Amino acid sequence: MSSIALVILAAGKGTRMNSDMPKVLHQIAGAPMLVHAMKAGATLEPERTIVVAGHGFDDVKNAAQAHDPDAQIVLQEEQNGTGHAVKVCRDALAGFEGDVIVLFGDTPFVQPETLETMVTARRDNAVVVLGFEAADPGKYGRLIMDGDNLKEIVEFADASDKQRGVTFCNSGVMLVDGIVLFTLLDALDNNNAQGEIYLTDIVKEARNRGLSATAVSCDEVETLGVNSRAHLAQAEQTFQTRARAMLMEDGVTLVDPATTWLAHDTVIGRDTIVEPHVFFGSDVTVESGVHLRAFSHLEGCHVSRGSVVGPYARLRPGAELSEHTRIGNFVEIKNAEIHEGAKVNHLTYIGDASVGAKSNIGAGTITCNYDGVMKHRTVIGEGAFIGSNTMLVAPVTIGNGAMTASGSVITKNVEDDALALSRTPQENKAGFSRKLFEMLKKKKQKLQKDAD
Ligand code: UD1
Ligand code: MG
Repeated sequence: MSSIALVILAAGKGTRMNSDMPKVLHQIAGAPMLVHAMKAGATLEPERTIVVAGHGFDDVKNAAQAHDPDAQIVLQEEQNGTGHAVKVCRDALAGFEGDVIVLFGDTPFVQPETLETMVTARRDNAVVVLGFEAADPGKYGRLIMDGDNLKEIVEFADASDKQRGVTFCNSGVMLVDGIVLFTLLDALDNNNAQGEIYLTDIVKEARNRGLSATAVSCDEVETLGVNSRAHLAQAEQTFQTRARAMLMEDGVTLVDPATTWLAHDTVIGRDTIVEPHVFFGSDVTVESGVHLRAFSHLEGCHVSRGSVVGPYARLRPGAELSEHTRIGNFVEIKNAEIHEGAKVNHLTYIGDASVGAKSNIGAGTITCNYDGVMKHRTVIGEGAFIGSNTMLVAPVTIGNGAMTASGSVITKNVEDDALALSRTPQENKAGFSRKLFEMLKKKKQKLQKDAD
């Protein structure tokens, strides 16, 4: 197999999105569409990755390079068509002699197997186009076949009525012999209904030079292009449906798959159970044998085997749960390690902290990590017991086996095995409540009389 360069076209504005943001940066499953397209292309292990950007150049560049720092971003100042967009990659492709695969940044779901089929077809053809049978061919380019040979691609705007009757359509994905690519592109003009340089015209150009072209076909959902917010929502559904099915195949129980929301990079181990309405943001890894209970929200975290999370738990970035931990309802964990067997069961905030193995954090505990300007750490040792409603004012360290009394405000370190008690001593005044009630009732009667 010859080496491959990946070119992703992403310069267009995407007018129908009605957005200040370039279309390709709108997200599906927590990642820009562009990143989905880059991931799809990356399965071919390209030697070079080139993104053609125009509208929102800097933002597109940053997003592309955040995903792949080696990606080259080429500026297409004016969007003069898909052929022109590939032409501006001339310098970025200098010296490259392999095959060039062109993907669109707004067509995020091309499958690795489909790209492989194209690579296979490329053995006997200079140009391979990915087509699909369109339920509604609309304004797609039409693939005009002659047996297995692709004769030409006709854009809707330029097509005759007969050609418009063809339902085999162009997805936009194209694999081309890099040696002839620029010769073909240089021969194109913009003498067409849209006044653009069409990449699709290289098919005819190749045939004119005695080179062969063909089309391989894929399922229409793979070539789903996103042009509007409604398409974006459909693309999200397509992603979710596929990702849920893959997880279940891998041995994860999704009690109600339709309510499990996954991110583009969610990893979940075998025999983990996900109850209804669990949401995964980016960068979550859950090991096997975990129980994620209903209505939990996870992002940027790692949950080790045997742990139980939720219902109604929130794991934020940097939450690192060791094995057999227990995170209960209305608990928020951020940038904190919860060590083996530790329990944080109710109504608690643990942020910028470390909770030692087998420690128990009582209901309503708060790590007061923020002083209004800076964040500070709380370190809790092993086997500690934090009483309910303890305020741990960071920076503060609680020793191994130490205890804090309920309702304490802890501002000083607590040594190993010590009990910290910091609350106003209680005083009981006999008979006082009855007297107080009587006094208050009289006051109320007087107020009512005065009002009448
Ligand atoms: C293109 C194809 C059409 C195909 C359809 C599939 C051509 C001439 N037509 O049409 O056959 O059926 O896609 O969706 O190729 N772009 C640039 N620079 C440009 C123009 C476009 O980067 O100058 C990018 C866009 O951002 C987009 C992609 O190329 O990601 C496709 O452009 P678009 O204008 O949507 O092409 P279509 O008219 O839909
Ligand atoms: Mg389009």
